[in-house]
Amino acid sequence: MKRLRVAVLISGRGSNLQALIGACSDAGFPAEIVLVISNVARAPGLAHAEAARIPAKIIAHEGHASRDAFDAALDAKLLEAGAELVCLAGFMRILSDGFVRKWQGRLINIHPSLLPSFKGTRVHEQALAAGVRISGCTVHYVTPELDSGPAIAQAAVPVHPGDTADALAARVLVAEHTLYPLAVKLIADGLVRLERGKVVFSDCPDTEGILISPLPEKRSAFFDPPSRGG
Ligand code: GRF
Repeated sequence: MKRLRVAVLISGRGSNLQALIGACSDAGFPAEIVLVISNVARAPGLAHAEAARIPAKIIAHEGHASRDAFDAALDAKLLEAGAELVCLAGFMRILSDGFVRKWQGRLINIHPSLLPSFKGTRVHEQALAAGVRISGCTVHYVTPELDSGPAIAQAAVPVHPGDTADALAARVLVAEHTLYPLAVKLIADGLVRLERGKVVFSDCPDTEGILISPLPEKRSAFFDPPSRGG
């Protein structure tokens, strides 16, 4: 089986990188990580690459005269590694329009909200301030406008009364670790692609079920319609 060659870009903790490494460690998974790049020399996530014996490079933005020079160095490393898909996983640097256009359709990101709600930073604070009862995460194609590219997959989690931003972040992060490998698999299996700015699916089974939050009491006949013939 030919596996999709994936590069993962990080700046910090790298828990999503670790989730992708875990998925790719299964020989039946249709993608492999060929390169990890961090723009932060001491990013804790680099240890995950090292432990999995994945080549890792540090491209420190301070060492580059301009954003374009940094992005050119990034592009060169990705080409050298033969990357076919680039996954941003907590990569805290805005990429130039030129870089994004060049990699469009092969550049994806995970964001810890149900986009288009709550773009940018302090996402969980934004969700709590807005009072939503359900939040989640989104894997999307990257476009020049921040956190605005079309969604490939989303996962929802409840917001609990009394949640702090940290508690909500932790719940969303668990969902991220399932969603990111799933989105990479959809792409690697050829079930999803970007066409003229829209995400197109082929042969992708629909999800069933409803997430309700909060649920005032244990599910009962009041909430669940009688089953057929029951
Ligand atoms: C995640 O919440 C991701 O959605 C966001 O940055 C965070 C990175 O976490 N873009 P980690 O470095 O993958 O642990």
